[in-house]
Amino acid sequence: TTEDPGELRTPIVAVLGHVDHGKTSLLDKIRGSAVIEGEAGAITQHIGATAVPLEVVSEVAGNLVDPTEFDLPGLLFIDTPGHHSFSTLRSRGGALADIAILVVDVNDGFQPQTEEAIRILKDTGTPFVVAANKIDTIPGWNPTADAPVKQTYEDQSDRVRSQLDEKLYELIGELSGAGFSSDLYWRVQNFQSNIGVIPVSAETGEGVPDLLTVLMGLAQRYMKSEMEVDIDGPGAGTVLEVVEERGFGTTLDVILYDGTIEQGDQIVVGGTNDPIVTEVRALLKPRELSEIRTEKRFDDVPEMQAAAGLKIAAPDLDDAMAGAPVRVVGDKDVADVVADVEAEL
Ligand code: GTP
Ligand code: MG
Repeated sequence: TTEDPGELRTPIVAVLGHVDHGKTSLLDKIRGSAVIEGEAGAITQHIGATAVPLEVVSEVAGNLVDPTEFDLPGLLFIDTPGHHSFSTLRSRGGALADIAILVVDVNDGFQPQTEEAIRILKDTGTPFVVAANKIDTIPGWNPTADAPVKQTYEDQSDRVRSQLDEKLYELIGELSGAGFSSDLYWRVQNFQSNIGVIPVSAETGEGVPDLLTVLMGLAQRYMKSEMEVDIDGPGAGTVLEVVEERGFGTTLDVILYDGTIEQGDQIVVGGTNDPIVTEVRALLKPRELSEIRTEKRFDDVPEMQAAAGLKIAAPDLDDAMAGAPVRVVGDKDVADVVADVEAEL
């Protein structure tokens, strides 16, 4: 183990949930208004990633997160469109995400894609929290923009609070039906045996400080040892999407969950036929706090370290597959890496 924060990789947080329950809105809120250009409120067409550095987490969370108490570099959020197959969120037969936010519209409760997400979280053993979203739509709700929900919950009238309680208890009941015991997050003692439910509004920002605090706390407390990876070792990632990009030809949108990838590296990518062996021509990086999907101009960078969302430009990617592994060969034997990739497909 090490105390050097440079050796800890960023935990990957998947945002899952039923269509229109507010996944993208919640991420937009976390990113802040500065970044949203054109795409706000739109249905997410593709999967992307957003890196939120610790300082920003701390800023959004207000006094709830003291940055000096944490040594993880921040959080990397992956948005998932409600209609997208979650299979691309898997890696090595496990979960690509280290932790997840299950977003549930507090009025709608469990819906088919909520159930699908729960099944995947269960199968992959991914720890998660539930964001009970759209609390601002409770009739008579008295909002305080961007406030911690623990405070704004107390500020409501008895009638409004009991309406919210009723919906939250329904949700807790549905979680129980799915095999998970849960409670309002401020009543949860042990987040490993109990799922924390965090009432939020992506509209008013209420509960967002609490959500970030719980996520950061969970990651720091229970996942730190898993974040101690060989960050300088050969990179490993999962293809989210194969994208035609003007000037670059076929490119890969990738979540890098381990190690380092450099320009010129030899890589092996899972394809529809045999694994593809090729060489990285360019690594294209979304600017920090921006969404890889909505970014028009990428920064060309010499190398990237996990965890990150990035675009890889390389020859011969036409047969690459979404959900397939990407491996940097490094000092290994190409044939061995090809065999590894084949085994994972
Ligand atoms: P898909 O990507 O299509 O699966 O949807 P999504 O889960 O990303 O939902 P999105 O963020 O696009 O939100 C769907 C709609 O709900 C939009 O019209 C949002 O403005 C609205 N919405 C999201 N969160 C809230 C909320 O907290 N309060 C209110 N009132 N509306 C919300
Ligand atoms: Mg969306």
